Amino acid sequence: MSLLEIRGLSKRFGPITAVDNVSFKVDQGEVLGFLGPNGAGKSTTMKMIAGFISPSAGGVSVLGEDVAEAPLKTKAAIGYLPEGAPTYPDMTPRGFLEFVADARGLKGPERKARIDYAVEHVDIGHVLDQSIDTLSKGYKRRVGLAQAILHDPPVLILDEPTDGLDPNQKHEVRELIRRMAPGKAIVISTHILEEVEAVCTRAIVIARGRLLAEGHPVEGGWQLGEHFAEPGRLDAVFRAITMGAPSSAQEAA
Ligand SMILES: Nc1ncnc2c1ncn2[C@@H]1O[C@H](COP(=O)(O)OP(=O)(O)O)[C@@H](O)[C@H]1O
Ligand SMILES: [Mg+2]
Repeated sequence: MSLLEIRGLSKRFGPITAVDNVSFKVDQGEVLGFLGPNGAGKSTTMKMIAGFISPSAGGVSVLGEDVAEAPLKTKAAIGYLPEGAPTYPDMTPRGFLEFVADARGLKGPERKARIDYAVEHVDIGHVLDQSIDTLSKGYKRRVGLAQAILHDPPVLILDEPTDGLDPNQKHEVRELIRRMAPGKAIVISTHILEEVEAVCTRAIVIARGRLLAEGHPVEGGWQLGEHFAEPGRLDAVFRAITMGAPSSAQEAA
């Protein structure tokens, strides 16, 4: 059984088909790179997996249970880092994590232990009592990651986790993802292709809502659909795959 399974997922916003019949699975130990140009439908797909918006069609299963049928149970098994910085700028990281722990129903010694674990993993112990809006973008992102891993979920959905970080911060977040990977199913969206080569065990490419290719590392590079990319050359393959993509919105018209 895959930890995460997406079946025929679609989302329409009025005339726009943001996500068009997307299916994939993620097993324990996998870090799936979810690639696509801006507007491809990555964030919309991730919001549906996390249960923030409901699909127009299709479904999501977590640990074999349907998200629509068992929303509380499945949400408890998912950690989600939305795109951008966390909200609640007036809170401190400590206050924010306590708030999230309460919302997750954590209590007593477990609540404290989970907060300590998350704080230690993203290394924010020294900024815990500073208001979030005074933190650098890198530290805001870490606070977001801390809330995503707080309840130690087996499934992690991270929407552009390194977006806006400097090279050192990017490296640290990738290290964190690598450390957590063995026990979890992780999906990260990105348009940074070096990131895919650095942390992903598999990748899928979407454009205009449609899944166009699937790939994995092979001896001497990456195989993405029919294309082979030598190290550092995933960008050329990505362009070849996504530039030829038909527009589902145009086709529907
Ligand atoms: N709430 C919404 N209402 C209308 N259109 C939306 C909404 N959210 C996303 N879209 C559209 O759906 C498409 C996919 O967006 P998104 O999932 O954010 O892409 P990505 O994360 O890959 O950049 C875009 O055309 C975007 O404008
Ligand atoms: Mg996005």
